[in-house]
Amino acid sequence: MKKDLNKHRILILGGSGYIGNAMYKELGPYFRTYGTYRTPHKEFENNKQFFQYNVEEDDAYEILEACKPSIIISAIRGDFHAQIIAHQHIVEYALEYGSKIIFLSSANAFDAYSKYPSYELDKTLSHSKYGHFKIKIENMLLRLPKKQVAVLRLPMVFGPNSPRIQEIKALIGEKESVEIFPNLIMNVTLDKKVTQQVHYIINRNKYGIFHLGSTDLVHHDEFIKNLISVITNQNVKLKRVYTTNEDRYLAVLPKFNKLPKHLQITSDDVLEELQK
Ligand SMILES: NC(=O)c1ccc[n+]([C@@H]2O[C@H](COP(=O)([O-])OP(=O)(O)OC[C@H]3O[C@@H](n4cnc5c(N)ncnc54)[C@H](OP(=O)(O)O)[C@@H]3O)[C@@H](O)[C@H]2O)c1
Repeated sequence: MKKDLNKHRILILGGSGYIGNAMYKELGPYFRTYGTYRTPHKEFENNKQFFQYNVEEDDAYEILEACKPSIIISAIRGDFHAQIIAHQHIVEYALEYGSKIIFLSSANAFDAYSKYPSYELDKTLSHSKYGHFKIKIENMLLRLPKKQVAVLRLPMVFGPNSPRIQEIKALIGEKESVEIFPNLIMNVTLDKKVTQQVHYIINRNKYGIFHLGSTDLVHHDEFIKNLISVITNQNVKLKRVYTTNEDRYLAVLPKFNKLPKHLQITSDDVLEELQK
């Protein structure tokens, strides 16, 4: 891909996090890219592109004014109420300067529906605090001029060093059991693919709602068992957790806003990447 450092100025809120940092590494060589971190850490304290930011205490506006981003990627966690207020400020900034906001949402925006996978234009509905909160921010953003927003609904994200894999490895190391949800049908994705998808969305000025799950669906228990067999030969204790008697879907599939083939992914691609 062509370098064009002047094309965009990108601010990644949560640039020190798992997904935010993967994006910083993907986009940094091509665009003027800034990030935020909350927890003090030498790597970020010594990096002039990074700003310390705590959504519960600091005003995002100051950072926005300092780096004047044409694209703001929201990849943070933190107190939900504080995040909602921060996103209100980000929206005000975007309205004033015409910036685009890329928001990392979640399949949980649909966690109240259990019988089907969800598509981009389905009405969001959640029974969880996390899902509710994501929907609230989505709705706030979707009122902006449509070309200024990309809402990315992600399923569980995996990668060789993802927190989920690290957690599973730690449980195996401590001979603890790994939880599996036999009734849960979901899709998954890979960190590396998400960062490529975001790069494409930025390069091609794409906007709207994106469902970034694998094209196939998997049962949670089967997928985690396969994943365990990829990372260890040991016999691992499993704890089956049944939240309902019937199968429950938590899957985000694309129908209207599809990305090109090379940016789509299957659950086997995710497992293959973990094998490397
Ligand atoms: N991982 C997934 O499978 C997944 C799936 C669907 C959606 N998402 C969404 O993707 C986004 C990123 O997730 P992630 O897994 O990369 O999370 P993560 O690794 O926990 O990173 C979270 C980021 O937010 C920062 N942060 C945490 N609390 C903060 C606070 N109070 N104020 C300011 N910044 C704060 C962290 O900073 P420090 O690390 O410096 O403290 C870090 O940069 C989240 O919005 C999440 O809802 C993730």
